[in-house]
Amino acid sequence: MTLTATMVVDKSFKIGEIDKRIYGSFIEHLGRAVYEGIYEPGHPDEDEQGFRKDVIRLVQELQVPLVRYPGGNFVSGYNWEDGVGPVSERPKRLDLAWRTTETNEIGTNEFVDWAKKVGAEVNMAVNLGSRGVDAARNLVEYCNHPSGSYWSDLRISHGYKDPHNIKTWCLGNEMDGPWQIGQKTAEEYGRVAAEAGKVMKLVDPSIELVACGSSNSKMATFADWEATVLDHTYDYVDYISLHTYYGNRDDDLANYLAQSMDMDEFIRSVIAIADYVKAKKRSKKTIHLSFDEWNVWFHSNEADRQITPWSVAPPLLEDIYTFEDALLVGSMLITLLKHADRVKIACLAQLVNVIAPIMTEKGGPAWKQAIFYPYMHASVYGRGVALQAQISSPKYDSKDFTDVPYLDAAVVHLEEAEEVTIFAVNKHQTESLNLQCDMRSFEGYHVLEHIVLEHENMKATNQGREQVTPHHNGDSAIDQGRLTANLAKLSWNVIRLGKK
Ligand code: AHR
Repeated sequence: MTLTATMVVDKSFKIGEIDKRIYGSFIEHLGRAVYEGIYEPGHPDEDEQGFRKDVIRLVQELQVPLVRYPGGNFVSGYNWEDGVGPVSERPKRLDLAWRTTETNEIGTNEFVDWAKKVGAEVNMAVNLGSRGVDAARNLVEYCNHPSGSYWSDLRISHGYKDPHNIKTWCLGNEMDGPWQIGQKTAEEYGRVAAEAGKVMKLVDPSIELVACGSSNSKMATFADWEATVLDHTYDYVDYISLHTYYGNRDDDLANYLAQSMDMDEFIRSVIAIADYVKAKKRSKKTIHLSFDEWNVWFHSNEADRQITPWSVAPPLLEDIYTFEDALLVGSMLITLLKHADRVKIACLAQLVNVIAPIMTEKGGPAWKQAIFYPYMHASVYGRGVALQAQISSPKYDSKDFTDVPYLDAAVVHLEEAEEVTIFAVNKHQTESLNLQCDMRSFEGYHVLEHIVLEHENMKATNQGREQVTPHHNGDSAIDQGRLTANLAKLSWNVIRLGKK
């Protein structure tokens, strides 16, 4: 049996311009993300600063435009001053968030250097857990003020004459979480975030600020937290953050793949709350969304309980991703694209070794996890304008969701290159989907390629051997503006159309 799904796409039905920063990622001082991840002095492929060139190449392949740093939970106990100046004088500190030892060999300046090498901008987080307004405004001055003040001159004395000009800043991290160093109520956080934001913008009015939303939508404080925090911070901030992680703990594939619907609902709810506060304040300003932590995270939970406390860079959160995880990551990327008008920043959490698309072996190679591919495809081909596709698909019910469309799809138009890309996941476990797409406004377009990620074994990984890799033999054709594509059961598809 072949099931049919239909789609109507027109170049004038636009969701909005895609901000390339939705393909951002995240490096936290956590586990082997920094040490043995991006930085490994003595590695055969190190550069002059000890950064791994093989990792740099893989990050470049992903075309990551922005990297959030240095946390995460880590930032809520971090003294940024520990990570600048001569390395030999930097203190070793207990990192209470992950119960490890932080050597501070890498800090702000080295990370900015690394980000330049991979071609990304830094999204810097300040500590509003154990610290506050003063440390935050000093860090902005250290990073962004040209010269002639205490902190900017200190940066210059550390060998960085030009300011880093970091544009986006996170006001703390997950401040509602009981696990957070310096957890706060919405009132407490709202006040300190407003004051920190105000003062940081006094130092550099060109920066953009992200206020912390709830740690996830299942927090008891969710919704009230966002409303209260925005009530306090509305005039100072530009974005509110969202975080979510999914897992397949019950090994229920249908339900697992449906979780992108939860992400969609989460985004819609936060938009509604932000616009409620806008209405209440009679404001002309619109707050956008920064989905600055999203991914699959569950495989490593048990292993992490066995880690010896206070080790340096132990293997924490090292999820080894399966093919089914790659499908959900694809659906999550599609969900972000469907909200391109409001989600302006998003960070796949994280980038190297820690719940990451890139893994490294100490002294050995770096390799691509299964989730590397949908992330790379979206980042490379998902630039331009997100189009509002009219989709009609057969549906299914799962344990927690009803009316889950088997077809999940997003369409992107890159006008200047005359290219259109359809990203599509078929969630059906036994049947292929026959996609019929009306694309009559794209006259003269033909199929450039149809990339497919599929695998017989849902639990296949790339550890030890690359098993989950895309092929280019997808089956699609366009005739007089009608695209027909065969989407294999349980597959991620990238159908690229163009005029050339
Ligand atoms: O990304 C891992 C952790 O998940 C981050 O440190 C924290 O913000 C979240 O709980």
